[in-house]
Amino acid sequence: MTKIKFIHFRFLPMSMRVLFTMVLLVFGTGYLMAMIQVWESHAGKDGDPMISGKDLMIAYSGNPEGTKLETALRGPMADMLPAEKRQVIFDWLHAGAKQEEFEGKINPIMQEHCIACHNPEANPHLPDLRAYEGVSKVTARDEGMNIPTLVRVSHIHLFSITFIFFIVGFIFSHAYVRPTWMKCVLIAAPFVVLITDVASWYLTKIWSGFAWMVILSGAIMGMAFATMWIISMWQMWFWRVPESISENQGEIPCVHGD
Ligand code: HEC
Repeated sequence: MTKIKFIHFRFLPMSMRVLFTMVLLVFGTGYLMAMIQVWESHAGKDGDPMISGKDLMIAYSGNPEGTKLETALRGPMADMLPAEKRQVIFDWLHAGAKQEEFEGKINPIMQEHCIACHNPEANPHLPDLRAYEGVSKVTARDEGMNIPTLVRVSHIHLFSITFIFFIVGFIFSHAYVRPTWMKCVLIAAPFVVLITDVASWYLTKIWSGFAWMVILSGAIMGMAFATMWIISMWQMWFWRVPESISENQGEIPCVHGD
């Protein structure tokens, strides 16, 4: 049976190698930007500036100990007021966020440190913290990202990442990697972990431990991307082609079962 054989990078026309290289360079930059974005939007939610499983648990499933107000005051709003006043708010929240205590203890802090931004005239999209009614909206339990948001993010994620890894895997298919199963694992892994990643976003709502699956999936995806990227670039421009390939005009020799 005749089979279509893979042609090694070095025997592809220069124009194709330039095209592949440019695509890989832009995807590599894009991947770095995506990492920065993940960091920016998740790190620090648990009060520790490093990104952690806890941060992702809070982002996806909410914070069982916390409220939106506490999450914000431990994260992006932490510098808006002195630590002792922050503690007053935490104590009030942990004691049940009672309305009777709001006027005397909490409202003065809000008036002084928060309402410059948190009022509808200044920022209509931010929670209105001028009175108890608005504050009570951010003292409800923090449920994390809601399902409609997850659905929106997951369909974009599934389509765009499939697209990227189809192209990267297609380019990488011109590399010489033995054993063949390893090449196939590298090509398949990003798609498998893409599914486990998106599935864990939803599962984290049921059991927050699935946040680790999100991290593991992301790590495997990143490693597969980096490995395919480096091998492709290396073999395209720097690698000394073994004789078995150059004798074959660049056909990657077929071993049994390829
Ligand atoms: C300088 C303007 C500014 C001040 C002052 C400020 N905030 Fe914010 N706050 C923002 C912005 C902008 C956001 C949304 C972006 C973000 O989350 O980083 C936000 C977000 C929040 C959120 C999260 C809202 C949500 O829907 O998840 C809470 C809660 C909050 N702030 C509480 C406070 C409290 C309490 C104070 C006072 C101690 C305060 N903020 C002071 C600008 C401000």
